[in-house]
Amino acid sequence: MSELLIHSMAEFGDLILEVLDLANAGTIVEIGAEFGGMTQPLADYCARRDGTLIAIDPAPAPGFVDWAKGQPNIRHIPRPSLEVIGEMSGIDAWLIDGDHNYYTVLHELTAADRLAQNEARPLLAILHDVGWPCARRDMYYAPDRIPPEFRQPFGHDAGITLDDPGYRENRGFRGAGQFAWALQAGGPRNGVLTAIEDFCRQAEHDQRRLLYAHIPAVFGLGVLFDASAPWAQAVADAVLPLHDNMLLARMERNRLQNYLTVLDWQDGFITLAQPA
Ligand SMILES: C[S@@+](CC[C@H](N)C(=O)[O-])C[C@H]1O[C@@H](n2cnc3c(N)ncnc32)[C@H](O)[C@@H]1O
Repeated sequence: MSELLIHSMAEFGDLILEVLDLANAGTIVEIGAEFGGMTQPLADYCARRDGTLIAIDPAPAPGFVDWAKGQPNIRHIPRPSLEVIGEMSGIDAWLIDGDHNYYTVLHELTAADRLAQNEARPLLAILHDVGWPCARRDMYYAPDRIPPEFRQPFGHDAGITLDDPGYRENRGFRGAGQFAWALQAGGPRNGVLTAIEDFCRQAEHDQRRLLYAHIPAVFGLGVLFDASAPWAQAVADAVLPLHDNMLLARMERNRLQNYLTVLDWQDGFITLAQPA
């Protein structure tokens, strides 16, 4: 059923490439490649401008590694993001769509920003899964990689649904062996959006001015950037009209409700009325 549910950053491809172009980004990091849905348009973009794409993913989908080897503008690093970001340099933009939890995203942003500041570059980070379900609830591809003091109680068989901060055993949206959910949504140190907010709070405390656009569709896209960047106004003009757009949010909620209903029907928890 997962093919019913669009979920790739590629759904935002035109907007993301426009933002990268406005920021004149030539060296880009993509954290989390999976099937390469967004990697392909990024590779094409890099090929057009003789740029470089570094795709970080310790466990991409089958076929990705061989495909990436054949792409002259891509370098694939098969390791978790936090092990490698600190070794990098010269990065213009970050696409963050790897492990969707507070600890990982907060530290990815912090490490990317440290690099940017050391090289006197503006920060440009484009993040996925800033909306439901990961906004306020951690998910873990590899729970063992998260220090226990940052890790929420989690379950691989936990299923989640809208408007319920708890979980149900084997019912609702679940990881099918791929990932685990935190058993409870909300509270401190939980979720991708919480990580972004805490990162921004620290940046503000350090007298930085960041801008953030929150686009409430396809699990949510966040665009975070330095207000002082020479391209900041142009990027703001591109993304801010979509910020917290109520119609997009309504449509996203409707598609999630429909998808969750299909799951319940598929799992035998409800029957659908037959046409008369
Ligand atoms: C949601 S998928 C990425 C989808 C892709 N960005 C797209 O838009 O089509 C998440 C991917 O992140 C990878 N991943 C998980 N933890 C990671 C980490 N710590 N660093 C980098 N990638 C990670 C997983 O292996 C998985 O392939």
